[in-house]
Amino acid sequence: MKVNSLTEKTGLLGHPVGHSKSPDMHNEAFALTGFNMVYLAYDVSPEKLPQAVEGMRALGFRGWNVTIPHKVAIMELLDELDDSAKEIGAVNTVVNKESRLIGYNTDGTGYLRSLQEETAMQLTGKRVVLVGAGGAARAVGYALATAGVREITVTNRTTAKAEALASRLSRWVPTRVITAEELQTALQDAALLVQTTSVGMHPDADVSPVNPDWLHSGLVVSDLIYHPRKTKLLQEAEKQGACIHGGAGMLVHQAALAFELWTGHPAPVKKMREVLERSLAPV
Ligand code: ATR
Repeated sequence: MKVNSLTEKTGLLGHPVGHSKSPDMHNEAFALTGFNMVYLAYDVSPEKLPQAVEGMRALGFRGWNVTIPHKVAIMELLDELDDSAKEIGAVNTVVNKESRLIGYNTDGTGYLRSLQEETAMQLTGKRVVLVGAGGAARAVGYALATAGVREITVTNRTTAKAEALASRLSRWVPTRVITAEELQTALQDAALLVQTTSVGMHPDADVSPVNPDWLHSGLVVSDLIYHPRKTKLLQEAEKQGACIHGGAGMLVHQAALAFELWTGHPAPVKKMREVLERSLAPV
């Protein structure tokens, strides 16, 4: 990649950002497609976020990604929010359109594209169970709720958060909140289980948030965790004959959608996936 005076700038605002795979995915995607663009990671503390956003506007950045802890705080600093960002209540991608900063959220659609690519499951009329009720659950829940599923059941360690999410999603689809004990029955009629919490994430890789005896071969089991690539939950789901879907695809597709928003061209998804797989430890 040759950076010169015409290079268009993109990047990531987060705190920390050192672990991010996004610079590798995007820079390789730009190189492959021939866009004269560059992607850099910026570690910005919360109190510096307003200055960083104005600086990026002044410098004419084409756009950027936003990650923890800025996904909610950045909303009030932008000029406009796409429906995806409004409904999810967080921004992961900003597009600079003639100095107007527009916030999007590509996480939910990224999840759906990944699910379709890897499982080809038909969502229409299906019952879905979401484990967790944080930011990731809001993004995936919104995408599923607007994709024609029949019902979304939410369970979470903190019931009040499950209720808040279920109430948000009930605009599009019937929802209900269940306790951890009621999960067994809910899974019997479900076609898709989506695990959105950090339980099972490295280094607690030997923990599963769902009793393996409750899984069955009629389920697609999604775990948004990508490190380890196959969580304990997914290993157990596989043993029960379920179709499994890990979190790496969502990461690739949310990035691919951001690439498409910035360039107006389809992203080289296969290449981006290869880059991500290469950088993930073999666990
Ligand atoms: P994210 O943006 O990754 O979703 P988040 O908004 O902090 O992060 O949400 C984390 C989710 O993981 C929540 O559902 C959280 O449960 P609580 O609402 O009870 O906090 C869940 N979570 C995190 N650690 C957990 C644990 N040890 N056991 C069960 N759930 C956990």
